[in-house]
Amino acid sequence: MAQILIIDDHDSMREGLDLLLRRRGHRTHVAENGASGMALLEENGVDLVITDLRMSGMDGLEVLGAVRERYPDTEVLVITAYGTIETAVEAMKLGATDFLTKPFSSEEFGVKVERLIQTKEERERLRRENRSLRVENTYLRELDQGKEARYGDIVGESAPMQRVFRWIDRVARSESTVMVYGESGTGKELVARAIHAGSSRKDGPFVRVNCGALSDSLLDSELFGHEKGAFTGAERRRRGRFELADGGSLFLDEVATVAPQTQVRLLRVLQERELERVGGEETIGVDVRIIAATNLSPDQLLDGNGFRQDLFYRLHVVPLTLPPLRVRKEDIPVLVRHFIEKLRDRTCSPVNTVTTAALERLSSYEWPGNVRELENVVERALVLADGPELDEDDLPPFGVHEGGLTPGPDPVLSVDGTDLNSVVEGMEERLLRQALSRAHGVKAEAARLLGLKPSALYYKLEKYGIEP
Ligand SMILES: Nc1ncnc2c1ncn2[C@@H]1O[C@H](COP(=O)(O)OP(=O)(O)OP(=O)(O)O)[C@@H](O)[C@H]1O
Ligand SMILES: [Mg+2]
Repeated sequence: MAQILIIDDHDSMREGLDLLLRRRGHRTHVAENGASGMALLEENGVDLVITDLRMSGMDGLEVLGAVRERYPDTEVLVITAYGTIETAVEAMKLGATDFLTKPFSSEEFGVKVERLIQTKEERERLRRENRSLRVENTYLRELDQGKEARYGDIVGESAPMQRVFRWIDRVARSESTVMVYGESGTGKELVARAIHAGSSRKDGPFVRVNCGALSDSLLDSELFGHEKGAFTGAERRRRGRFELADGGSLFLDEVATVAPQTQVRLLRVLQERELERVGGEETIGVDVRIIAATNLSPDQLLDGNGFRQDLFYRLHVVPLTLPPLRVRKEDIPVLVRHFIEKLRDRTCSPVNTVTTAALERLSSYEWPGNVRELENVVERALVLADGPELDEDDLPPFGVHEGGLTPGPDPVLSVDGTDLNSVVEGMEERLLRQALSRAHGVKAEAARLLGLKPSALYYKLEKYGIEP
């Protein structure tokens, strides 16, 4: 099964291809123009992009160029209406993996797609083998023979996580500033640590600052240090985290919450690689690699959230977006096994395996709190279980289950820098969709599940544009 993105401005074509692929068991994303296709790609990462050549706005060749530039490992199948050799040749020159000329039969299409996916898998396997020969002494560890289901402490065998691993591998060796995006609990901190551990600075310090947890003035002196007497209570000189991270990496966590005045100071260090302590005049040079993280999207950072554009561009040098767990549920089994290993001793649990039924139930939930929420559920289950096998019955209540609808265990959300409304709306929308799907689209039943009056449900469905 592969993840495939279809971009075509023709409704019937797009829907037809979508249906064919889904019937073959693939997971699909569809877009009616190049720009929204690229956005979907950004969000999900796919194995194969199928794009029409002629579209208004961003056309197929532009899509191809953009995919080649940013996702060199993604295959691109171009569909051309003309059957003229020229356009097809041009597309191949620009790096299309293959092309298909309209009209074509569903068999032709199916065969082509399967072949593309196979070549991709084959290439990846070869690359993995090559690499595993090379990496004996590096940070990369293999979980079980031939299968790279982990990268250091980061576990995942889904295509998007495999891409993340490759990305870390490449980026770690550079000195570039990295910006890690991702919802809460997707592993941003783990990635930051892995980048440090894979870099030439690995023997230097890894220093983390949680920008969201400190008040504006505290953050200033925490980052840049202060001189004796700089403010009341500053009884002695203190070096800031930038200085402490000298020769290593500084992880600016929840960077979106940094106050405007501190943003200006940050910008200066990023540009000049030097700083003054609060209340000090001496200029101090620092040799630090910056890794920043936020649970906002780049767009949210830029639109009126008080984040300076110039600072954004200084940080957004090499961006990475970690996919939410709900788009890579294939990772749930390896993650669960990893957490059993990791937490068994701490929880004094007799558990050493997990049943398929338990995994299925865990996979039926959308995990708004992502991997962290999953880890919490596994930890609680380990505490509750009394045999060596973790079964469905050992799972604590979470998400949607027979008892009714609950929003799951306290989703771990960081308070600072969180837009409460958007978080609440996100959960509301998810619950509405879950209720509708459980009610098989019967609105009255969905309303009952949610304890809402039908009119309130209609209003909310309208608000989120949800159609049963
Ligand atoms: N791919 C993964 N493999 C193993 N453990 C993971 C993975 N992703 C996350 N975790 C675990 O989930 C928890 C949350 O991860 P982390 O703190 O890195 O998330 P985060 O993106 O920084 O979240 P937040 O925005 O809430 O701070 C940690 O305990 C981490 O070890
Ligand atoms: Mg974090």
